[in-house]
Amino acid sequence: MATIVVVGAQWGDEGKGRVTDFFAEKADMVVRYQGGNNAGHTVEVDQKRYKLHLLPSGIIHKDKISVIGNGVVVDPEALLEEIEYIQKEGLTVDSLRISERAHVIMPYHKVLDAISEENLEENEIGTTKKGIGPCYMDKAERSGIRIADLIDEKAFREKAKKAIRAKNEILVKLYGKEPLDEEEIIQKYTKYGEILKPYVVASTSLIYHAVKDGQNVLFEGAQGTLLDIDFGTYPYVTSSHPIAGGVCVGTGVGPTLIDNVVGVVKAYTTRVGKGPFVTEQDNEIGDTIRIKGHEFGTTTGRPRRCGWLDGVILKYAVMVNGLTYLAVNHLDTLSEFETVKICTGYLLNGKSIYDLPANLEEIEKVEPIYEEMPGWDLESLRKAKTYEELPENAKKYLEKIEEITGIPVCLISFGPERHQAIYRTEIF
Ligand code: IMO
Ligand code: MG
Repeated sequence: MATIVVVGAQWGDEGKGRVTDFFAEKADMVVRYQGGNNAGHTVEVDQKRYKLHLLPSGIIHKDKISVIGNGVVVDPEALLEEIEYIQKEGLTVDSLRISERAHVIMPYHKVLDAISEENLEENEIGTTKKGIGPCYMDKAERSGIRIADLIDEKAFREKAKKAIRAKNEILVKLYGKEPLDEEEIIQKYTKYGEILKPYVVASTSLIYHAVKDGQNVLFEGAQGTLLDIDFGTYPYVTSSHPIAGGVCVGTGVGPTLIDNVVGVVKAYTTRVGKGPFVTEQDNEIGDTIRIKGHEFGTTTGRPRRCGWLDGVILKYAVMVNGLTYLAVNHLDTLSEFETVKICTGYLLNGKSIYDLPANLEEIEKVEPIYEEMPGWDLESLRKAKTYEELPENAKKYLEKIEEITGIPVCLISFGPERHQAIYRTEIF
């Protein structure tokens, strides 16, 4: 009888899918509240690996309602592909519910995402080119198309016609590109609307009543704190609110109904795409982390930039999300090293600072202050069944994280399989 938000505390790819899946076992409902198919969540169940982008991780389990909330941007083409993938895996999507208020990613959003990245040249953001930014732009501009429109043939035709014409003006006159075929898009997307219609609901009321009825509801974040459009390393961010506050606007659930917020971190740091990264190890250390941690994107296949754990970022994530617990993943990857480093503060112009500056030039300038700690070996790590059985040095590392952040670690993982994790505190 609780609500939990699972949120990325770094730049995404922290292993949120895995942590969500862990809690999902006891959840009645799993809800996505922001982002779209730019996310890549890998979940391993019974030695089978599932890769999800838009569907909530609850879909892997039977009898859990899986909700795509109003704050999510939905690419119907990508969603139907994912539904097909899930069905091929022998699972069903009968429990899927899609908010009528969610916005639709249209073909022109994807085209415009690619063009905008091209035009930025070396300053490109490194987006996933899934049309996420342009779709949220239209939402804010109040010209977007919502799921409620998509499933209403007449309304959709009217709105889509207007939108495609406006975007074609931009494509042709501003960028000298070919216009998109209006009729082809309308027909294709009308069909998508028909297929998706049975899943469409008033999701806010559905979630509210689940919470009020005492069900366990899990809110599954995508991306991460540092990719939040307000609190991340702007402009190298995504266009939504991955932070815990995003749950309220992305589902319509009020803040008083949220019980716990679990921040997911890797035992080190990674990021994909451009932007500052203070503890980056663009060297052998980073290469080792990348190879041992399989740090290549689930969505785009890009190699991830890797570095040591950044405590300044973790403290920042505690603050902006109101984190109550941390889940630490990939402790096994760090077992490659004799000693490991953890950043406890930054040096800016010779002065110590402990907050993340808003100004990117300042973040680029800071030097990390590291604390070096002794490492641990993989074999004894993997043998542990309880927290107490973890290697002493691994425990010291986790305690250091708790000391820096001031909150407890509730979950520790050290391998992709279910048993390679220790669940220290029951939250649900
Ligand atoms: P999960 O949920 C890591 C990054 C992109 C780019 C920036 C903007 O798997 O943690 P966008 O396509 O969203 O406009 O790209 O955000 N990005 C992610 N990085 N994990 C993700 O999701 C990401 N989703 C977007 O690489 O830098
Ligand atoms: Mg990802």
